[in-house]
Parts: sequence; structure tokens; C-alpha cells
Amino acid sequence: MFLAVSQLTKSYQTEIVTTVLKGVDIQLGKGQICVILGPSGSGKSTLMNIIGGVDRASSGTVEIDGQRITDLNDDQLVEYRRESVGFVFQFYNLVPNLTVAENIEVVSNISKRPHKVDDVLSAVGLADKKNRFPRQLSGGEQQRVSIARAIVKNPKLLLCDEPTGALDFYTSRDVLSLLQQVNRQFGTTILMITHNSAISGMANTVYRLRSGEIAEVIHNSELVPAERIVW
Ligand SMILES: Nc1ncnc2c1ncn2[C@@H]1O[C@H](COP(=O)(O)OP(=O)(O)OP(=O)(O)O)[C@@H](O)[C@H]1O
Ligand SMILES: [Mg+2]
Repeated sequence: MFLAVSQLTKSYQTEIVTTVLKGVDIQLGKGQICVILGPSGSGKSTLMNIIGGVDRASSGTVEIDGQRITDLNDDQLVEYRRESVGFVFQFYNLVPNLTVAENIEVVSNISKRPHKVDDVLSAVGLADKKNRFPRQLSGGEQQRVSIARAIVKNPKLLLCDEPTGALDFYTSRDVLSLLQQVNRQFGTTILMITHNSAISGMANTVYRLRSGEIAEVIHNSELVPAERIVW
């Protein structure tokens, strides 16, 4: 398996101990799309942050492409995040005083095997807007820039936390379609969190999380093109 999450747990110690993940198992093949569904507070972002090396598990293991992430020390985790993982969030987190191209170059300049900035700009359909600033773009266009920034490093894994959460229906569908295209064009494995179960159809595998446990796993043999998804 390309991504194997095994018996993952996470607890937070505040006044009391809160167990947010209670033994989560996930398996994902290389080049696949996985959707994680679940209500607010079910542990989706916590799970993604551990897979992305931003947060640490309490117990259990995460392996990606033969590398056991849960064994890495802090320096190794920094390297792992920089080289292997692309992040896309609900809010685009672009640097406001850098142009579109510069926002992407910031990442490609520190990557070992980056794609060409112009190639990813073309892939996301923004070649003609490369010299604009984020404030001169629509929300959907800004999310395209954040996807370009996430994929320019040629990551093993693209992690998307509610990537369409701030967008209207048609713009959401365009962004989902772009993610599907990135998956095909670059062979990027994608893990996407969403509240929207209509999006499940475009995933090879769907995990439904409930109170920190996997409540349901769905394998789709045929994938729905994003353009045909309706909600
Ligand atoms: N640092 C922390 N300390 C204590 N509890 C935390 C911490 N971070 C998250 N939690 C708790 O863990 C639970 C899961 O949070 P998480 O952000 O993973 O949920 P989520 O499924 O992503 O929800 P949403 O859909 O609202 O984004 C929540 O109950 C949250 O309050
Ligand atoms: Mg979340």
C-alpha cells in the first residue's frame, strides 16, 4: 500500500484527556483519490494533520511509500513536509504582496524535484494571470493558485482540507475537476476532506469518520467525473 494508516490514535490533554482518534485504519493505493467524510469535530483535520506531519499521533503508525512517518524526528518531519506533501486548505493562505507566479516560486525554489512553474500555471489554467496579485483574483482562481503551489514541488501526497468550503457550487465543481485533472496528469495521490457527500463519487475510496472512528468504507469501481457531480 502506498499510504497505510494503522490503529492511529490521538488524545489531547487539557483539564481532561480527550481522545479524538480512536484506532483509525486507512489504506490507499498510489495515484488514487480518497475522500474523508464526517461531521464537524469527528477528527478529520486531526487525521490529515498527522498524515501530513504537522501533528503527532499518540499511538499507531502512518507509512507513506515505505517511509514510516510516525517514527520521524522533528527535523525529518520538516524535510518530509517540504518534499513529500502538498497542502490545500479552505482559505487559500496566499502571500498577499507576492504575485501568482511568485507565490508558487517560493515553494519551487526550495524543492528538490519541482515541476516548472509555467507548467503548473498552465495546468491550473492561470498562465495569463501569473503577474496578478491574489486580491486581483476571484476565490476560485485563488484556490487554483493554492493548488498550483501545492503541486509544484511534485508531492507524493496532496492533502486537501475542505478545498471547496468557501466556494459556490460552480466554482467548487471547477476546483474538483482541477483536482481530478491533477490526479491524472501528474499521478498525484489525493486525500480530500469534505462535509459534502456528493463529492464521494469522484473518489476511489471513501472513509466516513464518526467520533474518531471509521464508521464506513466505500470502494468505488467507477469514478464520477467532477463535472457530473451535483448537490
Ligand atoms: N489542540 C487541541 N486540544 C484539544 N482538543 C483538540 C485540539 N485540536 C482539536 N481538538 C478537538 O478534536 C476534535 C476533532 O477536531 P478536528 O479539527 O479534527 O475535527 P474536524 O472533523 O476536522 O471538524 P471540522 O469539520 O469542524 O473541521 C474536536 O472535538 C476538537 O475540539
Ligand atoms: Mg477540520
